[in-house]
Amino acid sequence: MSGKAKVPSVRLDRLLANLGYGSRREIQMLARAGTIVLDGATLLDADRRIALDPDLPARLTVQTRPLDPLPGVALMLHKPLGVTCSHKEAGPLVYGLLPPRWRRREPPLSTVGRLDKETSGLLLLTDDGALLHRIISPKASVSKRYQVTLDRPLRGDEGAIFSSGTLMLEGEEKPLLPVDLEVHGPTSAAVTLTEGRYHQVRRMFAAVGNHVTALHRDRVGALDLPADLEPGQYRVMGEEDVARVFGQG
Ligand code: URA
Repeated sequence: MSGKAKVPSVRLDRLLANLGYGSRREIQMLARAGTIVLDGATLLDADRRIALDPDLPARLTVQTRPLDPLPGVALMLHKPLGVTCSHKEAGPLVYGLLPPRWRRREPPLSTVGRLDKETSGLLLLTDDGALLHRIISPKASVSKRYQVTLDRPLRGDEGAIFSSGTLMLEGEEKPLLPVDLEVHGPTSAAVTLTEGRYHQVRRMFAAVGNHVTALHRDRVGALDLPADLEPGQYRVMGEEDVARVFGQG
């Protein structure tokens, strides 16, 4: 016994079809044309099974390009202003920032929660439903930090109100869990919260007579938006990045 965990295997045509490379018939044609290469050897038969080793994308090329990330991927995206976290709304969508083929992936990529169209910053996406639920589950209490710019100067009592655990948003029946406020200037602050209610930050400041003019998320759990990730860019998350999401923010 080698003691190694058995790696699942999958038919090559199914794997590539699920990654959006085309129909299984189209994948067969790609294979017959000699465009799929594993460890330097051309795979002419797409019926064969291949082991889903985590390093497969580095070893398998399709039309000379490395294979897309395997199912079970998580991404961090620097969401720019003006794009919507939706699969089907009109106008530019966050999914349009990813390679077009990725929109045909099965299981599909989904955003982990949402940011408003006019909010920028760190947005996570994954095709791993269990991971998504683990991150958004209230039990996990994953914190989110937002940098806020305000229309009017802070009054001074906002920190106490937000941290009280009694602030009730308009139209809701349950008070907000405590939110931490860090004041940076008369009209700028950071808030750290663990819930994710609809337009939460904007509505919190509306509740204290202010108005948010700019909102940017720069941290989820203990994962910071990387300084070199420009608006519109994304990066595949490694295990350490995922662990950071569940770390202390
Ligand atoms: N709170 C908001 O109001 N908007 C966001 O996008 C995120 C948190």
